[in-house]
Formats: sequence, C-alpha cells, structure tokens
Amino acid sequence: MCGIVGVVGKLNTKEILINGLQKLEYRGYDSAGIYVNDGQNGSLVKETGKIKDLEKIITDNISGEIGIGHTRWATHGKPTVENAHPQFSEDERFYLVHNGVITNYDELKSTYLSDVKFVSQTDTEVAVQLVSYFSKQGMNTTDAFKKMVSLVEGSFAFGLIDSQDADRIFVAKNKSPLLVGIGDGFNVICSDAMAMIDQTNQFLELMDGEIVVLEKNVYHIFDKDNKEISRNSYTVDLDPNDISKGTYPHYMLKEVDEQPAVMRKISEHYLSDGINVDADLVKTVSESDRIYIVAAGTSYHAGLVGKEILENLTDIPVDVEVASEFGYHIPKLSKKPFFIFLTQSGETADSRQVLVQVNELELPSLTITNVKDSTLWRESTYQMELLAGPEIAVASTKAYTAQIAIQAVLAKVVGTLLNNEQALNLDLKEELSLAANGMQTIIDEKDMLKSLTHDFFENQDHAFYIGRGVDYAVSIESALKLKEISYIHTEGFAAGELKHGTISLIEEQTPVVAFINDPNTAEHTRGNIKEVQARGANVLVIANEKFAYSDDQIILSSINELLEPLISVVPAQLLAYYASLERGNDVDQPRNLAKSVTVE
Ligand code: M6R
Repeated sequence: MCGIVGVVGKLNTKEILINGLQKLEYRGYDSAGIYVNDGQNGSLVKETGKIKDLEKIITDNISGEIGIGHTRWATHGKPTVENAHPQFSEDERFYLVHNGVITNYDELKSTYLSDVKFVSQTDTEVAVQLVSYFSKQGMNTTDAFKKMVSLVEGSFAFGLIDSQDADRIFVAKNKSPLLVGIGDGFNVICSDAMAMIDQTNQFLELMDGEIVVLEKNVYHIFDKDNKEISRNSYTVDLDPNDISKGTYPHYMLKEVDEQPAVMRKISEHYLSDGINVDADLVKTVSESDRIYIVAAGTSYHAGLVGKEILENLTDIPVDVEVASEFGYHIPKLSKKPFFIFLTQSGETADSRQVLVQVNELELPSLTITNVKDSTLWRESTYQMELLAGPEIAVASTKAYTAQIAIQAVLAKVVGTLLNNEQALNLDLKEELSLAANGMQTIIDEKDMLKSLTHDFFENQDHAFYIGRGVDYAVSIESALKLKEISYIHTEGFAAGELKHGTISLIEEQTPVVAFINDPNTAEHTRGNIKEVQARGANVLVIANEKFAYSDDQIILSSINELLEPLISVVPAQLLAYYASLERGNDVDQPRNLAKSVTVE
C-alpha cells in the first residue's frame, strides 16, 4: 500500500527517489509522483500507472538536494494524476506525501477550508491545505505542520516540504509505517528500510504521534507533548542482494524456490544446540488456557494449520481469528488467553488494531513476523522472526511456509514443557529437513507443473480446491494464490461440504484440485473426487505417497502429517504462478492488490 520516500542533502535526489520508489513497488500502487526542489524552483511530476511511466516524463533539468516521492494505492478518489501525490496547497507553497486514511477530512474541510479550491478527491489534500491555512494565520511551518497533525484523525505517515524554505522535510506518523534514515551529510525517509538501504543502514524508529524535522546534517524529534527528545539510531541488517530478483523472471518464482533454504535456516536458528526460544515466552504460553491466533489473508491460512499443530502438541485449545472481524466483535475471552499475531509484514492495520486492544487489556501477545522492528513486532510482548528474507511478490509463499514452521517450533517447545507425548516424540529438526527435501523435489518438477497448468486451467474461469483437515487449510490458501494472481475465480472447500450446495457449480471440465494427505479422511476425499468426476469435473490430485494412486498427477514425499502442508502447498503455488504467467498477468504485482495492507 502507498509508499513514501524522501531525501535531503544529496545531489542526485531525483535518482534516489526513483530508485527508492522502485523498491517500494512491491507494496502495490496505481500512480506515483515526485517533488524536487533546488532551493529556487520546485518541480512536481506525477503519473498514473507504473514508475517506468513516471520516469518517461521526468526531464533532465529537474534537480535539487531535497525531494519527496510517493506510490499511491487509491483509497479516496480514482487513480488519476490529480489524485496522485505529492499533493500541494492552493498557493503551491507546500508539497505533501501521505500514507494512510484521514477519517475526519470532511469535517476539517468544512471547519477550516471552505474558501479553498481543491483539485483532487483525496483526503490527503486536506492535510496540505491545512498547513497552508495555518501558515497564513501567521504560524511558522513547524508549528503549522504540528497544528495540522494535531487535528487529523485516522492513520498517517506524512512527509512535507515548504518550497519557500526548502532545506527541511517535516515528518509525522500515526499507525502507518515510516522510518527516518540517517546518513553522512544527508538524511532520508521511507516506508520500508529496503527503499533506502543502498543509502544508509542507520535508521530511527518513530513512534505514533511524534514529529521530526529533518535537515541534511541534523534532525529534531518532538514527542506527543511537543517536547524535543533524542533517540539513537539502530542498524538494519539487510543485504541489498536479498531484494534483487537475480536471474529470476519474477520475485514469486525466486521466493517459491527459496523455501527449502528457509526451512533449513529456521531449523538452524531455533533448533541447533538445544532450543533457541525465549524461555519466558514458552512459560507464558504454557500457562495460558486458550491461544487466539489473529491474522489476515495467507497468514490467517497459516494460522489454521498452526491451530492443528499447537492443539496436538500442547493440548491448549486454539482459536484462529480473521483480524478485521475479531477486532470489532471480540468474543468472550477465556480466563488466561494468549494472543499470537501472524503477519509477514508486521504492518497489517487489521491485525494491529486487535493488538492495540489486546495491549489495552494488558494481555500477553507474540508477533510472528518477517520484519524485525515492524509495528507489530515492537508493540507485542514477545517476538519470533520468520527468517524468510524479504518477500517482495504480493502473493505470499515463503512467508506462509515459514509461519507454519515457526508455529511448529513454538508448539514443540511449549508441548515439551507440558510433557505432551506427541511433542516429546517429534524430531522437528528432522521433519524440517524432510520438508525442505520434499519441497525441493516439487520445485525440481517445474516443467511438469507448467504443462499441467496449461492442460488444466486453459480457458477456465472457475476452479475449486478441496481437502479435509489440514488439507482443507491448504485448499483455501491454494485457492487464494490462484485467484489473486491468475484472476480465475477459485474457491477452496472442505471436500465433504461440496455436496451440500456447491456441487451444483461443477460442469463439464470444471477444474477441481484435490489434496489427499490426511490419513483419517483420505478415502472419504477419494469418494468426493468420484462425485465431482461423475458431474464432469477435470480432477487433479495432489497426494501423499502413502495414499497415492498410480494415476495421481502430483505425488508428495511423506513427513509428519501435521507438517505436510509445508510440502503440499508448493505445487499449488507453482500452478498459480504458471496460470498467471500464461494469462499474461503481472505476477508480482497483481491488479488492485497491495503487499503491505496498512489501512483497515
Ligand atoms: O503482512 P501480512 O501477513 O499481515 O498480510 C496479510 C495479507 O494481506 C496477506 O497474507 C495476503 O493475503 C497475501 N499477500 C496473499 O498472498
């Protein structure tokens, strides 16, 4: 979702902004823009579409040592040039980029800005017009910016430049992510350290409600009470090579291929030389009477697998909750609840609003995330890192399997403390190693999967994934993967549930992918396959070697049945990849989607 970059104190501002925006493309956007000022004149360039479209209209004469840039994912107003950021004040003095949603913009407009002519439909324009309004009332820019920030409600990350005093960037955040990067003779801002890691690896964490005034050699941080405070920077350990595609045509394919290595890394980090998990975390979970897993999208699907693993290995009941629902309909909680937030990005607004409430209730929580120092990481009681390396493709792959593996690590240590027999008997290190090998076997069969995809999904507008138990959890994840990047309408279903209604949609050649990995229900799912075949469905079976028939198309190696999703999801990820490719879609940045969903 929207991305912000900014720099003060560098001669090649324009290049730094464009390069930074390219690194933020993965977040999802539909227009982009930059504003650069050379101390005398400012240049504003905005375009709909991709960064490469913006680059085409940026002329050589644009230069300056200060600038801000933005990728916009439309919320208020269509993706047009007028609605793209930076937004500017009526007198064209102030330029502002914004990530988030200002909820009281209508009210602010009628209270303060009834005489102002607006040129966009955005909530953002209200913020920049307000700065101008307060400046015209006699406030200096710092005070006008602070006043605006004190009035706006909702979520925001702001970067503002005053063209009449163009050596400072005014920065503020609330709920939306924003970092300040510290350089030698320059400073930067960005929504994600990835965007500026080639400039600096020193970053400042900003808290909600804080304001920063950033110059090239100095920065001033003001807390919520307007008191100037100091804060040390921290080092971001990110290898710029991790965020390159290398020789891969798409990030998604690279990330699918990285999964065996991620399994080995998790095993090495958490399970070598004993067990490397915070003892206090393990004790707190073991003393809880119910675990609530809160997540969205693919992370929610990983939570469904985690529930099976945690309940079996710890005997503690687990509820898995869709974050956007749970936050507004909190059920009666158990007496000693423990919350797990699963989030690749660590920034998902739906999940964060639940964490805020959990913190207000002073309940313990764990964030399992791929992004250390992200908002949910910082605000939860305990943290575990996914160690998957940056995931850039919008379609989540390696983060999903890493989330399952980390939940298994947690279940194993908590269950061991609780003397659970399954936990005591589970050799998780060995299982993760088998999972890595099983994944690799599938990854090595790409050509076969590519041709299966062609035969199976060509000219199809609808598809189904079915399974039972953990296979059902993998079915809904596989369906999400296929629909989000191929745009084929796909549903994941509990195999036994089809006959209660949905089977009416099965027609001649309707593609149905069936997972058969659950020992208790393998034969029942075979029965459901017969039912859809009898109605004309074209069935593709992904089965564990233990239950496979000789004519099943994809046969998986066998590991502990609770962990089988680590392997069984991989062919589904590749089917989705090739279906998207075959349809000529943008695999890594599918339409309408954002990687980091920072608005509710
Ligand atoms: O960063 P998060 O894991 O919290 O993101 C949650 C969802 O937006 C995300 O998993 C989404 O469903 C995936 N991009 C789908 O592949």
